[in-house]
Amino acid sequence: MTVLVTGSAGFIGYHTCKVFLKKKYKVLGIDNLNPYYSVKLKKKRIDLLSENYKSQFQFFKIDLTNKEKIKKIFNKYKPKIVIHLAAQAGVRYSIENPDQYIKSNILGFFNILDCARVAKIKFFFYASSSSVYGNNKNFPLSEKYRTDDQLSLYAATKKSNEIIARSYFNIFGFKSVGMRFFTVYGPYGRPDMFMFKLLESMYFKKKLYVYNNADHFRDFTYIDDVVNSIFLLSKSKKIINKNLVVNIGRGSSIGLKKIIKYVQELTGKKPNLKFIKMQKGDVKKTHSDLSNLRSLIEYSPKIDYRKGLLLFIDWYKKYKKIN
Ligand SMILES: NC(=O)c1ccc[n+]([C@@H]2O[C@H](COP(=O)([O-])OP(=O)(O)OC[C@H]3O[C@@H](n4cnc5c(N)ncnc54)[C@H](O)[C@@H]3O)[C@@H](O)[C@H]2O)c1
Repeated sequence: MTVLVTGSAGFIGYHTCKVFLKKKYKVLGIDNLNPYYSVKLKKKRIDLLSENYKSQFQFFKIDLTNKEKIKKIFNKYKPKIVIHLAAQAGVRYSIENPDQYIKSNILGFFNILDCARVAKIKFFFYASSSSVYGNNKNFPLSEKYRTDDQLSLYAATKKSNEIIARSYFNIFGFKSVGMRFFTVYGPYGRPDMFMFKLLESMYFKKKLYVYNNADHFRDFTYIDDVVNSIFLLSKSKKIINKNLVVNIGRGSSIGLKKIIKYVQELTGKKPNLKFIKMQKGDVKKTHSDLSNLRSLIEYSPKIDYRKGLLLFIDWYKKYKKIN
């Protein structure tokens, strides 16, 4: 069985490829290796997949705005499952660089969705985001709630993906599962995200701007829980013939202050923090309701922030060669 994973050089994409490769699937990875953050890290992820799974993994450097190239991949390799994770990520970056979000997250999304429809793909999964909930304060956040008040362009592109996928279901009967991820962290994680930056600040004294004076709460979700959920969703009979959106989180909300304190205890180091006011586009708190996910896959994310941070710090120290 062949799986096509877009954004395979990205954080979640790399781990998603790995989980399917371990289960002996063939995996086709697509990514444009853009320089939003370290291209070296993106290449490292691809190298690891290519070296460890030589006969099962193939990588294609393609920009999803190029529909012809995507079509060729579908025609030649005939994947059975598509997991679309490529996107321009980041809430704050979308304020200064809106064009990139429209290109990758709207046009790129449409191109892969439409190619998948033409190829009659039965299992189309795509990354949405907890940011679609905006500042909804009815915690935990359930897929049943209305989501029509996004605070950033990034969130608006993710909500648009869900709407477009819904319309494809209504028009063509094309089925898909939108996965609303909640603040994912772990090994080979994104350097632009809080957890990674916190360690940079601890070990290398890099200045970390902490928004809203750290009065933020996030449903931090360890990467293994995310990719296990994706894998189990791809096997679930309960998704067949449906158009769904599903939360993928840890199901608990932790304050940033608590995380900073805990990492300080674990590392014995003091971070270089600069507290600043709330930023446009940011939401104050996220906390996922996982009843829908549990009903679909009979699995619930397990790794709490204490264990997850131990694993993440362990990886970070090896990666940066810190004793
Ligand atoms: N990490 C999180 O906490 C989180 C939370 C919510 C949603 N998401 C979503 O999950 C997905 C994966 O996130 P991630 O954290 O792995 O991000 P990431 O930035 O590490 O990975 C995205 C990858 O997509 C590639 N890409 C971007 N535009 C492209 C294009 N036009 N053509 C081809 N490749 C392109 C990038 O080069 C990158 O490698 C994204 O859609 C993101 O919006 C992530």
